[in-house]
Amino acid sequence: MEANRLDPNSLTPQTELLELLKEKCPEVFTEGKVDAEKLRQSLGDEVETGRERYGLSWAGKSDCFRHIQEPTTATLVPAREESVDFDKTQNIFIEGDNLGVLKILQKSYYGQIKMIYIDPPYNTGNDSFIYPDRFQESQDEYLQRIGDKDVEGNLIRDGFFRKNNKDSGHFHSNWLSVVYPRLFLARNLLRQDGVIFVSIDDNEVQNLRMVMNEIFGEQNFIEQIVLKNKAGAGAKPRGFITVHEYILCYAKNADCIDEITTPYSEKLLKLYNKKDAHFEKRGPYGTWALSTTSMDDRPNLRFPVYYEGEEIWPEKQWLWSSERVEKALKKNELVFNRKKDGTWSVRFKRYLKDEEGKIRLGRPTSFLDGPYTHEGTKELDKLFETRIYDFPKPSSLIKKLFQLRLNQEDNREGIFLDFFAGACTTAHAVMALNAEDGGNRKHICVQLAEPCDTDSEAYKAGYKTIADIGKERIRRAAKKIKEGKEE
Ligand SMILES: C[S@@+](CC[C@H](N)C(=O)[O-])C[C@H]1O[C@@H](n2cnc3c(N)ncnc32)[C@H](O)[C@@H]1O
Repeated sequence: MEANRLDPNSLTPQTELLELLKEKCPEVFTEGKVDAEKLRQSLGDEVETGRERYGLSWAGKSDCFRHIQEPTTATLVPAREESVDFDKTQNIFIEGDNLGVLKILQKSYYGQIKMIYIDPPYNTGNDSFIYPDRFQESQDEYLQRIGDKDVEGNLIRDGFFRKNNKDSGHFHSNWLSVVYPRLFLARNLLRQDGVIFVSIDDNEVQNLRMVMNEIFGEQNFIEQIVLKNKAGAGAKPRGFITVHEYILCYAKNADCIDEITTPYSEKLLKLYNKKDAHFEKRGPYGTWALSTTSMDDRPNLRFPVYYEGEEIWPEKQWLWSSERVEKALKKNELVFNRKKDGTWSVRFKRYLKDEEGKIRLGRPTSFLDGPYTHEGTKELDKLFETRIYDFPKPSSLIKKLFQLRLNQEDNREGIFLDFFAGACTTAHAVMALNAEDGGNRKHICVQLAEPCDTDSEAYKAGYKTIADIGKERIRRAAKKIKEGKEE
């Protein structure tokens, strides 16, 4: 779909907020407008009146609110001829500036999205990212500019794109002014129990965290995941070799999320390789050492365990209390093996399924050891048989995030959004997950018609814009998955 038609009725966060205020505190309205003094009185001590206060500020922040509040004049136009299964699929690719698109989506997708993943520009200073918002200009000037196209209808690079380099006096401010309004609008789209993941590196992680604390609320911070994204090496003249980046995760409302779990990895599943014939309901089991030397001294965990009349002591201490060991002994959940030196090794059994026969899920950790960035490049190179796009994320990374289970809900449903879609790795990940587990997840990807460099492989192969690459990625990945050729 293309975002380029007029729709004067689009919803804005401002109108939403006003409706809410009217409902909850009609007394603060006078002749249809909010009386700020009355609102202050209603809130009493909850209003911060001191001149110095904690917060994040930058050049252009107040203009961000103007941009958030301006109703969009765009609407979506379906591109039937470019689509596969147009009438059946509810997956959507939208070509356009994500600021306008997020405004349009407010109407139909308010509170509907289960998970958002974005990989915005990291603001490295070397990247030719897109800074389409010039906050000094009027709405008319802005609308005129975003209409800037060449004779073939393509966006003009000079009019639309600016490089944000480190010499710019507003290096961080420019970046913040792009990210803030988009995250603000994105939050509205999340379900109450929805979550957002944002990839970022050290260039802006501190600012992103402040922005997200402000928009989502510190209480809704879930995790700052550290992703090891390369093996090592790399040329860096000074300092440490950086081998990681981050993924910030925030919830719309953390109170609605009691539990986040993740399926066991293949590596872990391989450890569940033994069976108790009489215990089929609980599936295969694995065994783990009951004795540990790596914990702090806990004298209450040092006690003898009795087996075949022998007294068995741990080298240092057991993992479990004596009551828990006692219970496991009664349930035949401990395994004793005589070692060559005549002493005993004691291991405990862990079944893949719980007592009700439900498959166990793991707890995600804040550190991910891969997948590495080069895996994303390799994946896309293979799909296009040439280097079409630099540094796409590996689809396995996004699969890992979208496979997380929020509460006990079946995680094979829901709408997943990426509004910095690039080569549409998110769409690929969602389709692959559905194929793996028979799920019915939907994806929405938004990507600007950013022109490809005319001397790039992509341009030579016929892809004039990154949006063209994204669309073709979706077609190719869907075909490969359908043919069962996805490994
Ligand atoms: C780092 S890339 C995302 C890569 C993606 N995760 C992947 O795996 O291919 C960021 C993308 O956001 C796009 N972008 C930047 N500004 C945008 C805007 N205002 N609206 C929509 N897309 C935008 C850029 O064209 C770029 O392709």
